[in-house]
Amino acid sequence: MTRLSTAVDPRAPEYAAARGAALERLAALDAEHAKALAGGGEKYTARHRDRGKLPARERIELLLDPDTPFLELSPLAAWGSDHPVGASLVTGIGTVEGTECVITANDPTVRGGASNPWTLKKALRANEIALQNRLPLISLVESGGADLPSQKEIFIPGGALFRDLTRLSAAGVPTVAVVFGNSTAGGAYVPGMSDHTVMIKGRSKVFLGGPPLVKMATGEESDDESLGGADMHARTSGLADHHAVDEHDAIRRARRIVARLEHRRAHPAPPAAEEPLYDAEELLGIVPEDLRTPFDPREVIARIVDGSDFDEFKPLYGSSLVTGWARLHGWPVGVLANARGVLFSAESQKAAQFIQLANQRDIPLLFLHNTTGYMVGREYEQGGIVKHGAMMINAVSNSRVPHLSVLIGASYGAGHYGMCGRAYEPRFLFAWPSAKSAVMGPQQLAGVLSIVARQSAAAKGKPYDEEADAGMRAFVEAQIEAESLPVFLSGRLYDDGVIDPRDTRTVLGLCLSAVHNAPVEGARGGFGVFRM
Ligand code: COA
Repeated sequence: MTRLSTAVDPRAPEYAAARGAALERLAALDAEHAKALAGGGEKYTARHRDRGKLPARERIELLLDPDTPFLELSPLAAWGSDHPVGASLVTGIGTVEGTECVITANDPTVRGGASNPWTLKKALRANEIALQNRLPLISLVESGGADLPSQKEIFIPGGALFRDLTRLSAAGVPTVAVVFGNSTAGGAYVPGMSDHTVMIKGRSKVFLGGPPLVKMATGEESDDESLGGADMHARTSGLADHHAVDEHDAIRRARRIVARLEHRRAHPAPPAAEEPLYDAEELLGIVPEDLRTPFDPREVIARIVDGSDFDEFKPLYGSSLVTGWARLHGWPVGVLANARGVLFSAESQKAAQFIQLANQRDIPLLFLHNTTGYMVGREYEQGGIVKHGAMMINAVSNSRVPHLSVLIGASYGAGHYGMCGRAYEPRFLFAWPSAKSAVMGPQQLAGVLSIVARQSAAAKGKPYDEEADAGMRAFVEAQIEAESLPVFLSGRLYDDGVIDPRDTRTVLGLCLSAVHNAPVEGARGGFGVFRM
């Protein structure tokens, strides 16, 4: 066995400082998560319950197998926008009748469950996860359709929602729609495009146009039930496969549908694995408050992989990037983790080789980010840092094994790309509250702007206003700092959620289980031309 040792000392002052900062960030994060959990707030939740309806998260809870986890995704969607945190939609992965599924549920307490641009992004991300990982998709529908004031942002791209449902079906990934209330206009295509539908007596309303619209269009007098009630769809139109008497009955029927899917995962779950040797609690004391202070990512690896057992690959070469093999909840993984921040040519070449090896062996990759980017400077440019960085990015781009990324510290510049940032389509990407991501650090970015402005003034023969420069720097630094924070980035759906570091092993275990529903097959060749 190759057990990692630890140098973390929970009595050291730097540990206490890091832990104190982490707990403060977690408290702030909890306050933001609480906004998503509160949905439309007390008034609308009470009204919803008074109507005899269950809130979105309770519907999900009843759908899931008892005492099984729900990995909620993008809970902070829409943070920092004009729309409520959570984007009036709950999405995540959970187990129904022993089958892992992607579940989406409109939150009807938030503006009638209407979809705004962030709701759309969140829903499309859920669809993508279902397709990539071959997870059945269950939609718990109750929505006022498009958020009308922001229709210009969603109407045209929103067609992808219905396209995805039918593409999932075509790919053999089952889709189930349970309609709890309104599902009108475009929303009618959610049940319309799903493989299986459940509607509820007196509750479901599934029609292209409601009574007022029909009156306007054709002059016909009609009512909700005859246009789109569960009775009508179950007996007359045939759109409802199941006619449920109430919400609980509808959820019970959805569970039976999933039980009969006979959906088989590509790789069976491994047997229970050994826990790490070190306490996950200590993950709070590892990342220093100031990200410029280096830390050893092996301390993180030691607290997330099975038995803290890690076979390091090329430890003496390119030592700013730690690479090696481990298991996590029994699933094999290749880990790439930044140490000391900067990626040099050797690290890039080592990463490219390691990624190729993982592809030869069909082993998923885990990227732990703490990088300020690729090294700059004459010596490094002359040493070929561009072509070596390109080599690493080529390997990441064309690798076909599932990738998981966790931003634990800095994730700046092209380093974010090389370490499989969001645009490189990792199957899942999470951030710790300590993470920061941007084109570069705030001071560096403000400094670069200042140098450019100074040169521009000199070229025009104008004097440079030092006072204005200091003001500009302070303003830009504050702006970039705010835009680098995980809550801001999560609001924009640039990750799948900000997680408590102590939950990392559990979250990654759930993700690895999810990705193994689809065949894990690496690329044998098929990389771009490696510039040597
Ligand atoms: N866009 C923007 N806001 C919407 C909305 C939509 N599509 N649907 C509802 N809202 C808002 C309402 O204006 C209301 O805001 P307020 O409380 O600040 O006044 C809030 O959401 C709750 O709506 P309310 O009508 O009180 O809730 P309800 O549960 O009684 O009814 C609906 C929900 C969805 C049935 C009803 O609001 C409705 O019919 N909305 C329009 C549906 C539609 O035609 N959408 C276009 C489809 S493309």
